[in-house]
Amino acid sequence: MLAVLARERGARVTTVEPDDRKVQPLKDIRAVIGFDDVLRGEFDAITIVDVLYKVPLADWDPLLARCAARLRAGGRLLIKEQDPTARFKNSWNRLQESLATLLGLTLGEAFSYEAPEAFAARLARHGFSTTWRRVDFGYPHPHILYIATASPAPQR
Ligand SMILES: C[S@@+](CC[C@H](N)C(=O)[O-])C[C@H]1O[C@@H](n2cnc3c(N)ncnc32)[C@H](O)[C@@H]1O
Repeated sequence: MLAVLARERGARVTTVEPDDRKVQPLKDIRAVIGFDDVLRGEFDAITIVDVLYKVPLADWDPLLARCAARLRAGGRLLIKEQDPTARFKNSWNRLQESLATLLGLTLGEAFSYEAPEAFAARLARHGFSTTWRRVDFGYPHPHILYIATASPAPQR
């Protein structure tokens, strides 16, 4: 859906999804069935929506390093996740995700979350300056959006 919205606003979009059951051909959208490490080139923006929690924590830094390497100076990395510090809402999230994993609906075994301050510090180590906000008003899940901006090109 996000890919279609971006395409409608004139972006050239590439999607990455390892689970071939979830990939459908969409006009003018390049779809990679696999992982991001096969991508080359430079991007203005990268979005990771409800995926990071499925990636083991030990793999987050290599993934964020690849994002930093693939973004142009000043580009944006948008990450939508769940806020683990919201205890009640996150218990509901955990229950639902355990069920989805049990039923084989979502690929990956991990259930990795990090508190917003720690995650922003992690992003800073990859050269991003980050703001975040909860976007969960009226929702049972503790949705949180991180807007991370890659360092601008050095002044000459
Ligand atoms: C909850 S779904 C979200 C899918 C999509 N972003 C959306 O918002 O509809 C999580 C997705 O992460 C994918 N996934 C699991 N492990 C992954 C990994 N290591 N790298 C990329 N995607 C992964 C799963 O195949 C699944 O489609």
